[in-house]
Amino acid sequence: MGGITVPEVEDYLYSMLPPRDEVLSEMEADAAKNDVPIVGPAVARVLYQLAIISGAKKIFEMGSAIGYSTIWWARAVGEGGRVIYTDGDPKNAEKARRYFDRAEIGKRITIRVGDALEFLSEEKEPFDIIFNDVDKTDYPRVFRLALPHLKGGGLFITDNVLWSGKLRKPNPDAQTKAILEFNKLISGSPDLFTTILPIRDGISVCVKK
Ligand SMILES: C[S@@+](CC[C@H](N)C(=O)[O-])C[C@H]1O[C@@H](n2cnc3c(N)ncnc32)[C@H](O)[C@@H]1O
Repeated sequence: MGGITVPEVEDYLYSMLPPRDEVLSEMEADAAKNDVPIVGPAVARVLYQLAIISGAKKIFEMGSAIGYSTIWWARAVGEGGRVIYTDGDPKNAEKARRYFDRAEIGKRITIRVGDALEFLSEEKEPFDIIFNDVDKTDYPRVFRLALPHLKGGGLFITDNVLWSGKLRKPNPDAQTKAILEFNKLISGSPDLFTTILPIRDGISVCVKK
């Protein structure tokens, strides 16, 4: 858990979540056991909601690891929707592929192994949602790259923008500095309508005007 809210509130929020199916539960256990930093069910539900409310059909995910958030996106886009999975680690991708098959949504997902920023820059058609969960030092670069690849009215969503509450601490490290810069960019951009939701480790939701 990201733990930016007080523990009692955090515990309460998680106690209210409905149980997940077998595949997602197994992925949550896998992530906990192997230290894979997935968004977890509370944030995943927000992502799912945002996708269905906005009617998203085409989603680009930057940083997918074992595919936990990807499965939530794939379920939200429904039949005929497309989700691009990206991760730099082929072992993650192999594991994700097995989970996608078991969840029976593999046909909606394109798996790309390598640099998510490079893959996005090659895309010609704009996306309904771009989800950013790559290395934090790349966040400012992702901001600059992502916007032209998003439809008007599309969503640019980013995880970990409250960075375990470290943003106001003295002597920020490189990751913290990058997130501080990123948050300024999304909040100050005239092209975006931005909110930061303090759930788990903080997610930013930006609508492209
Ligand atoms: C926080 S995890 C992603 C978790 C996933 N979004 C979820 O919630 O289930 C970040 C992943 O991004 C990958 N990654 C980091 N920078 C990347 C990049 N530039 N291109 C592709 N993958 C990247 C890492 O290998 C890692 O598996």
